[in-house]
Amino acid sequence: MGEKKSNMTVNPYEVKGNVDYGRLINEFGLEKIDEDILKKIKKHTKNELHPMLRRGIFFAGRDLKWLLGEYEKGNKFFIYTGCGPSGPIHIGHLMVWYFTKWLQDKFDCELYFQFTDDEKFLYKDLSYEEVQKWTEENMLDVAAIGFNPKKTHFIIDTKHAGIMYPEAVKIAKKITFSTIKSSFGFNDSNNIGSIFYTAMQAVPAILPSILKKKNIPCLIPHAIDQDPHFRITRDILPKLGYYKPASIQCSFLPPLTGFSGKMSSSSEGVKSILSTDNPAEVKNKINKYAFSGGRDTIEEHRKLGGNPEIDVSFQYLKHFFEEDDKKLAQIEKDYKSGKLSTGELKKYTIEKINKFLGEHQERRKKAKKLVSQYILKT
Ligand code: TRP
Repeated sequence: MGEKKSNMTVNPYEVKGNVDYGRLINEFGLEKIDEDILKKIKKHTKNELHPMLRRGIFFAGRDLKWLLGEYEKGNKFFIYTGCGPSGPIHIGHLMVWYFTKWLQDKFDCELYFQFTDDEKFLYKDLSYEEVQKWTEENMLDVAAIGFNPKKTHFIIDTKHAGIMYPEAVKIAKKITFSTIKSSFGFNDSNNIGSIFYTAMQAVPAILPSILKKKNIPCLIPHAIDQDPHFRITRDILPKLGYYKPASIQCSFLPPLTGFSGKMSSSSEGVKSILSTDNPAEVKNKINKYAFSGGRDTIEEHRKLGGNPEIDVSFQYLKHFFEEDDKKLAQIEKDYKSGKLSTGELKKYTIEKINKFLGEHQERRKKAKKLVSQYILKT
């Protein structure tokens, strides 16, 4: 349920079918990120736009004009995003978090980063201990991103329950079971913890306001499947005297096997490239599984050319791994014309991913100390 028509489902707990982003903008009531918003962003970034903004990977949001207007008046926002620790981190997660770092650097913001160990325990077939282990592992990846240590705060739901719970109950009191059922497609057999959970995901949007005893605007970068949580959050918070959180939302990085659904780490490992994959694993996964938009034979490909739109390697370059617009345009042109083969495209993509992951993994190795620095002190 959630948003379902033909064969598409998009909500935090299920993403299925070919995701039609134009339709989601209408059905969710999102604002498309237009030239006007990009111009307003550029005003504060020395005219620079992150590739994910230039290329429409972050394509929609809520209240961005309002947020930027407040920023201009000197009413600075904080950033809130999060991670559900149920398995290894994949490049789809990293994409959102590296973009978040860009936002933090450009706008010089505080960042509150939530680890929803409660959520994953309630929703997944995992023991409490397993979820704790994933929380520890995932925190290393988030620390490896390189967020500003003076301005970044990790919240772990079960560990910070003392400050989270009083706010969660205030939010929960204003949400009915029928809202939860229709937002997430639940029925009477869902466990009662999962029904309550959305209140916990709403809390970080107000936590800094509570800690600092003043109303602070909030910006949430997230993948579009999380929007149902924040639609509810936006309904409730004004009733408690807070701003509605603004959001900036991205499309999904496609799974290796092609465009339907989203990348997932907890189900089939083979579908995604993990933050800890070594160069041989990346090479093998791309060569063996990355869906190709090329032709069946090299002769046909040279003659007729390939389709970058559906080619997973090209899409990985476009979404994340090729920052140079000129280079990307050249690759696209050569692939379409047949000058560049699938094998060559894959080889280049493997090199780019491995370079990126090599650097991420170096930082991840040294991240333990950082994690203890990041965890919010209460
Ligand atoms: N529910 C998210 C997940 O399953 C985790 C999360 C919590 C989150 N708060 C967030 C994601 C804020 C984006 C923004 O992955």
